[in-house]
Amino acid sequence: MSEPAGDRMLPADRLSPAAYGALVERVLARGWHLLDPEIGAALPDAGPGVAPGALLPGCLDEPVLLSRDAEGAERLLSNVCTHRAALLVDAPGPSKRLRCPYHGRRFGLDGRCEAAPGFEGLAGFPGPDAHLPQLGLGSLGPLRFGAIAPMMPLNALLDPVLERIGWLPLDRLRPVPALHQDHLVAAHWALYLDNYLEGLHIPFVHPALNAALDMGAYQDHRLPFGTLQIGIAEVGQRAMLPPPGHPEAGQRVLAWYFWLFPCTMLNIYPWGISVNAVQPLGPAASRVRFSTWTWEPEGAATEAALAAAVQGLHQTEVEDEQVVARVQRGIGARAYRGGRYAPVREDGLRHFHQLLTRALAPD
Ligand code: FES
Ligand SMILES: [Fe+2]
Repeated sequence: MSEPAGDRMLPADRLSPAAYGALVERVLARGWHLLDPEIGAALPDAGPGVAPGALLPGCLDEPVLLSRDAEGAERLLSNVCTHRAALLVDAPGPSKRLRCPYHGRRFGLDGRCEAAPGFEGLAGFPGPDAHLPQLGLGSLGPLRFGAIAPMMPLNALLDPVLERIGWLPLDRLRPVPALHQDHLVAAHWALYLDNYLEGLHIPFVHPALNAALDMGAYQDHRLPFGTLQIGIAEVGQRAMLPPPGHPEAGQRVLAWYFWLFPCTMLNIYPWGISVNAVQPLGPAASRVRFSTWTWEPEGAATEAALAAAVQGLHQTEVEDEQVVARVQRGIGARAYRGGRYAPVREDGLRHFHQLLTRALAPD
């Protein structure tokens, strides 16, 4: 019997070292990424100021600058001087304008070039290319997202998330820095995503999670630029009870698991949000930066309960990382031809591969 076209996994050569650069430039450099929470936390509490950082550290390493002007408007600017590419700002702090330490070019907090020693009297200067490029910036509660030249607007990613979680107290979300963690994974970032995007492995890899979930009620949905998996709680588990009119009204939701193209995952739990931001480090290595955000009130009991919840998540995470590293060791095998997608619980994986293929196609 013949197979439908596109019914096999992404060819392994797409994940080879030779293909890695194309994925970085065609997919990652054109996607939205979570700004490291440390960047937002470093902005002064009030008044104009700046906080430098990198977008997708270890991979794009794009130097960026989060600025807030006197009116409170936030922008994400390039942190690279438009003259000869010197980095502009090294440390966060209050600031009303930026001054390049190399030849003294000055910029406003909106990125406009205000003065450039040596260029006085030059016809047509400063033109648009003298101003600092403004990059994409948007947010979901206190989570900020940045992009250099995105393929799609941020709301194409976030609107489906808000449709599901807009009723939750997002305005009360606060980071819990003590529970942020980095994990190194011995695998290509797309293999980490492959695993996240399917529920087929849960009974085999995650015994504790499997016991907490009603696997018969597990759902997965395609989003235009992502996926949504829905875990329904077994009796006795803490759950979210969505309001009337909600797509999951009447169900006890243990978690909504969102993947946002290309490599951000938002896991929504009764206590808040756990984010996995994947930072590719090479063709066989990735870093997953976990951050924890809660809407629960501050206090020792809350922090202890959160620490216990996050500990449970990390058990699941370690189980995932081990199995993903196992796939990395097999993916380059000459005898491996690419398996077929399971008709159940692997559609998110197929959707991911289709979005990758589309992004890699010539414009
Ligand atoms: S590199 Fe900034 S002024 Fe020359
Ligand atoms: Fe898993």
